[in-house]
Amino acid sequence: MGEELRIDTVRLLRSLNELGKIGMRDGYKGVTRLALSEEDGKARDLLVQWMEEEDLAVTVDPIGNIFGVREGTSSTLKPVLMGSHIDTVIDAGIYDGAYGVLGALEVVRRLNEEGIETRHPLGVAAFTNEEGVRFQPDMMGSLVKCGGYPLEKAYERKDDDGVTVKDALKNIGFLGKGKIDPEAYFELHVEQGPVLQRKGIEIGVVEGVQGIAWWRVAIHGQANHAGTTPLDLRKDPMAAVADLYSGMLDYVTSKGNAVCTIGKLRLEPGAINVVPSLADFTFDYRSYDDATFNEGKAEMEVRLDDAAKRRGLTYVKERTADFQPVHFRREMVALVEASAHKRAYTTQRLPSGAGHDAQFMHIVCPTAMIFVPSKNGVSHSPCEKTEAADLERGANVLMDCALVKAGVRSPKSST
Ligand code: GLV
Ligand code: MN
Ligand code: MN
Repeated sequence: MGEELRIDTVRLLRSLNELGKIGMRDGYKGVTRLALSEEDGKARDLLVQWMEEEDLAVTVDPIGNIFGVREGTSSTLKPVLMGSHIDTVIDAGIYDGAYGVLGALEVVRRLNEEGIETRHPLGVAAFTNEEGVRFQPDMMGSLVKCGGYPLEKAYERKDDDGVTVKDALKNIGFLGKGKIDPEAYFELHVEQGPVLQRKGIEIGVVEGVQGIAWWRVAIHGQANHAGTTPLDLRKDPMAAVADLYSGMLDYVTSKGNAVCTIGKLRLEPGAINVVPSLADFTFDYRSYDDATFNEGKAEMEVRLDDAAKRRGLTYVKERTADFQPVHFRREMVALVEASAHKRAYTTQRLPSGAGHDAQFMHIVCPTAMIFVPSKNGVSHSPCEKTEAADLERGANVLMDCALVKAGVRSPKSST
């Protein structure tokens, strides 16, 4: 049955484009829908409207995760969830996260259209603050849900303007009280890397997610004149950042299985002719290999300490995220692979370089991820793109996997 049923790609694209308009700013090419912002609130309202149009029972939990659940034929069974996130980074594409949520909604739309029932309820999930751009840690909604971070601590996290997560949830009306206990979770996502497109593979069967560590660091020095202050008399925090970054880039290059990024940097006072008094920056370090992940975290902290001390600087560091590499259950990985093969799609197993809610849902229930190719491997950019045929293939596989776990019951079947 699953082999003939296909999702409606035109409708999926229409929804992606409509949601993608929320957060498009004049003068920018991409979408900016930071977690719990006014734009995120508007996108959530639209998603809830779409869920209600499909007769889904909408539940919002205390961290603002949204679940829209379609009844199953057995009221005692737990729901099989499909989803991702609808918050974005700054100037993003329209697929990251939204594809997983709207792909899930499209599965439900299609099943409703065909009158196909399932034994387990089927749910569409949108998790809060997956990106972690405004509030850290990232994947906050799924992390709190799996018990990996206390709710009260998450509520107290602040953005750069001092707004707390709790107030931001209240402001957009998504501070809920509900709870969902899932049977299984499937996350459909664009690859966000070059592997599938380079090899001409249609479906990525995700084996796991690499470890992610984030820091927020403030290095303090002394403001001074850029023309008159000899190098040996400077207390320049930017020079320490340069030492740290170039040292860590050499380190990850030598390892070959890790990456690191400084994606945000602010200098004070921030003037062309002033040695800065402060460098306030983020540091992102990742590896899929447990040993390299742990070694690299220690390496970063030793290098930071050396770089600061050598220049007579003080610093404050906060580890804002620290998530070990995750390996999905073998039977869930095999289910994605078998579902893709049933439709004669080509597959490749691969780990995810990006973080996903699936890495925490994996703690709560059997979890799997399905990847589709990203054009030129680009993501977290307005140039992010996935072809319609790939979007369709991924959502078809999502539908098949969810139906296997939920237990399909067609209108004509008597079981
Ligand atoms: C989320 O997209 C991340 O990997 O940072
Ligand atoms: Mn994502
Ligand atoms: Mn992302």
